[in-house]
Amino acid sequence: VPLQSFNSFGILAKALSMLRVRSDADVDALLSNPSLKAVPKFVLGGGSNIVLTGDVKALVLKVEIMGKQLVGETAKAWIVEAGAGENWHELVRWTLESGYPGLENLALIPGTVGATPVQNIGAYGVELQDRFDSLDAIDLVSGQHFTLSAAQCAFGYRDSVFKHQSIDGEGGKPGFGLAGRALITRVRFSLPKNFKPILGYADIEKKMAQSGWNAAAGAPSAMQIFEWICEIRQAKLPDPKVIGNAGSFFKNPTVSLEQCADIIQREPKIVHYPLVDGTVKLAAGWLIDACGWKGKSIGKAGVYERQALVLVNRGDRANPVTGGEVMTLAKAIQTSVYERFGIMLEPEPVVV
Ligand code: EPU
Repeated sequence: VPLQSFNSFGILAKALSMLRVRSDADVDALLSNPSLKAVPKFVLGGGSNIVLTGDVKALVLKVEIMGKQLVGETAKAWIVEAGAGENWHELVRWTLESGYPGLENLALIPGTVGATPVQNIGAYGVELQDRFDSLDAIDLVSGQHFTLSAAQCAFGYRDSVFKHQSIDGEGGKPGFGLAGRALITRVRFSLPKNFKPILGYADIEKKMAQSGWNAAAGAPSAMQIFEWICEIRQAKLPDPKVIGNAGSFFKNPTVSLEQCADIIQREPKIVHYPLVDGTVKLAAGWLIDACGWKGKSIGKAGVYERQALVLVNRGDRANPVTGGEVMTLAKAIQTSVYERFGIMLEPEPVVV
């Protein structure tokens, strides 16, 4: 099965076999088949956060469980549930149109609903964990169906229990990991009845100023923020349908106060945000940009000219970038950032 249209980089690779999963029963049937039970499996959502470095030998499970509905409410929140196969951006739009605000800052993030808890997607001051209620999943090893709360998902910055192997148990997180063994079927979101816009981000403040927004006009609506976020992202991030990419290629690193002070002394313009735990988050895009990478390429792998944190496919459909080229460019960037700043950038997408 060709995977080119199933990964947002547009890399050419094949899956030796692929099964579309449309319901829990499809997974139960698969796991009760003795010849398939023990076969290694790879769960694929929208393919917008992966780098394929070769053909996939595992059985690819393409999750297409659909549906979105209000399933409950508390005094403070609406509980909305969506199937893992739903398109994320369309879900965000639907919640706003249905009168359930809260996901607007996460507009236009590519991919499916089921992938959002895996890396705890975040943008413009909101992370998935801020709006998460619970999720349903199936253990592909034991066949068990289970539900996880936010605490059980062990969310962190672009991190969750779904990114860790069970042997990890590090970082003060619960000592179990579900990487490669959980198939998320449905996710429930807790959306505030008392809507308060999250505006603190520089790009949003700029939009407010540009459109002449002032306190007298009251707080902008969730739908207004949704539109601003779409404009901001369209201006600075490449549309994967036009230029293949997987969003930010590296996580923003954190350093100690001492290391940050040292870097600031040498690089006064460095973009940095102090965190509550006393460490400092640096903008990886700025570090890469400062090393002169913006707009550069190695082979058909390029650094996007408007946001250095995004690696892009400079090939075409017939001759696209390879996973090897992407990883070569990523290594070269890591080396130059490390040599200049002493910081090892950590890739964000899953390398397959
Ligand atoms: N910057 C540069 N040069 C660049 C890129 C960025 O100087 O080439 C500077 C910017 O001027 C800004 C700072 O770096 O001062 C931060 O840049 P930006 O606001 O674009 O955000 P980011 O830190 O690069 C993160 C997320 C994005 C998310 C945005 C908005 C990560 C890894 N990335 O990017 O998430 O959309 O914030 O909240 O945390 C993703 O994960 O795929 C993603 C796109």
